[in-house]
Amino acid sequence: MLTSFWLAATALITLPAYAAATPTPTVPKRDASPFVSLQNGDFSLNGGKFSFVGTNAYWLPYLNSDDDIANTLANMSASGITVVRTWAFNDVTTIPTAGSWLQLIQNGATTINNGANGLQRLDTIVQLAAQHNIYVLFSLTNNWNPVAIPATPARRDTASPLPRNYLSNDYGGMDAYVRAFGTTQNHDEFYTNPTIRSFFEKYVQAIVSRFASNPHVLAWELANDPRCNSTLPQTGTCTTNTITQWTADLSAFVRSIDPNHLVSSGDHGFLCPDCTKLFALPAKPATSPVPGSSRRSLGGALTKARLLKRIAEERRAAKRSAKADPNAIQIRGRWAASSQAKRQVSGVGPAFDGSFGVDSQDILSVPDIGFGSFQLLPDQNSYATDPSSVIGPPSNNFGETLQQGVSWIQAQAASAQAVGKPLVLTEFGLVTQENIPFFVPFNATEPAAPAGVTRKRQSDAAGTIGTGVTDEQRDQAYTAWLEAGLAAGIQGMVQYQWSSQGLVPAVGTFIQGIINGQAQSSGGGIDQSPNDGYGTLGQGQAEEQGILQTASQNITTVEVLLRR
Ligand SMILES: *[C@@H]1O[C@H](CO)[C@@H](O)[C@H](O)[C@H]1NC(C)=O
Ligand SMILES: *[C@@H]1O[C@H](CO)[C@@H](O)[C@H](O)[C@H]1NC(C)=O
Ligand SMILES: *[C@@H]1O[C@H](CO)[C@@H](O)[C@H](O)[C@H]1NC(C)=O
Ligand SMILES: *[C@@H]1O[C@H](CO)[C@@H](O)[C@H](O)[C@H]1NC(C)=O
Repeated sequence: MLTSFWLAATALITLPAYAAATPTPTVPKRDASPFVSLQNGDFSLNGGKFSFVGTNAYWLPYLNSDDDIANTLANMSASGITVVRTWAFNDVTTIPTAGSWLQLIQNGATTINNGANGLQRLDTIVQLAAQHNIYVLFSLTNNWNPVAIPATPARRDTASPLPRNYLSNDYGGMDAYVRAFGTTQNHDEFYTNPTIRSFFEKYVQAIVSRFASNPHVLAWELANDPRCNSTLPQTGTCTTNTITQWTADLSAFVRSIDPNHLVSSGDHGFLCPDCTKLFALPAKPATSPVPGSSRRSLGGALTKARLLKRIAEERRAAKRSAKADPNAIQIRGRWAASSQAKRQVSGVGPAFDGSFGVDSQDILSVPDIGFGSFQLLPDQNSYATDPSSVIGPPSNNFGETLQQGVSWIQAQAASAQAVGKPLVLTEFGLVTQENIPFFVPFNATEPAAPAGVTRKRQSDAAGTIGTGVTDEQRDQAYTAWLEAGLAAGIQGMVQYQWSSQGLVPAVGTFIQGIINGQAQSSGGGIDQSPNDGYGTLGQGQAEEQGILQTASQNITTVEVLLRR
């Protein structure tokens, strides 16, 4: 299967033969908008097609020095990066003594910080990004905000060495609203409780209206990884329809304030072919690629019948390869803990059964959603189609991890093609051996091992964390996933996450040098950007950036050839 895929990828990238043999298609005239917009099911920008390789840096707006931000953006740009995804939220419950914050949630009210350490940080990043031809993908809140007790403004908890804002899940988010305004303290109150919704809309109004006429904002992402569950437990009533309906309401709200920018969900991409839909697919899905589009027909959308057929094929292939190579025994683990979850469809893996409350195809069908999103983080989720073949951490079975990623990308592309909208992989990453001591899963508050100590992480309820992959394996997987995305016509691929060094420290911030009288070593150094396990400093960073750069060049090559 991998072999035929590589051939398909190569065929697409070596396009001259195709371009020469095909009469020049009559490409409809594009609108020359300076905003990233939609045209023929693709992104359009300044009259041309826009596809991109990007990176994540949730911490970027909050560095202590604007020069550091500018230098980081310059380095990104030198690697071919044209999109940076970052957080447009930074909620606190007490005003911190140092560092930035955007919204105070306290005493039953919210206050937005318009100051220099508030919304002006977002102005700065958009302005500096524009100078480096980088577009900013802003996320408006987070599914993940675990709070350790006691939580103080300066520290996450007494056992954790990590300062405020060090981790991606320490910028507030849905649970910050639920803790303050919820009546039952269930995570999914965020989607349904009218008081919470109105406080969130107030925040969204302030941010979105501020940048409504700024073309260097790529788009608005409603939330990072919205799901029914988080550290605060879900109710028994949250389903895929709950989150799809919330997405429909919020995306319409954003578009009413800002019709210039596209809106995306930001969800993880979980598919659920058999879940009840709120929105119909287009009556006549495009059977052949639109002229001028790099999309190939991907053979129809995922149905449960197709999924079950694929699972049966995969099981036969696994049996064959186990016979051929007795060492290729699959390690089965308690990954993803789907047995606890409420499954809406049986017989398929947790990423395909609706148990997270996400049906990404129904979400993509929401009229005000402009493009699809999905994530690929095999250290934290299983993407197995077959529920009996959940393999645990990537270091247990690297080959299978790589292949599941490729299949996940292809399934996502087919799903988006059926809707006829572009698709962006908003986070992909693997934790390497060197990074294992710094790895913090998105629902946790501290690293698996004390800073600087390399040891295997033993299991939490999600299963064994594993030992991390080698740098070479990471590079191999990233190359294969980027190639798979390119071959499948995915319009944006955003790595998780960027690293910077030589940054200006300041006490009380996440680049602060000293914590409790001790030099901070978590993540490797006192002048380095946060490392939650996916940072690349000293970890073959040059190689990894080279892969992003090649992918970016490949995207440009394909576009130029198609435009001729
Ligand atoms: C929700 O998450 C909590 C904490 O991570 C977990 O204990 C619980 O089992 C999960 N519930 C479901 C239905 O998945
Ligand atoms: C993190 O998620 C796993 C899997 O759902 C769960 O078992 C665990 O309890 C969670 N941890 C926290 C701190 O919420
Ligand atoms: C930018 O890249 C150069 C060369 O690799 C490096 O020395 C510098 O520290 C980087 N700057 C930042 C802010 O990461
Ligand atoms: C880019 O294209 C070249 C040439 O086809 C290929 O060797 C390389 O693997 C591609 N890399 C990525 C990341 O797409």
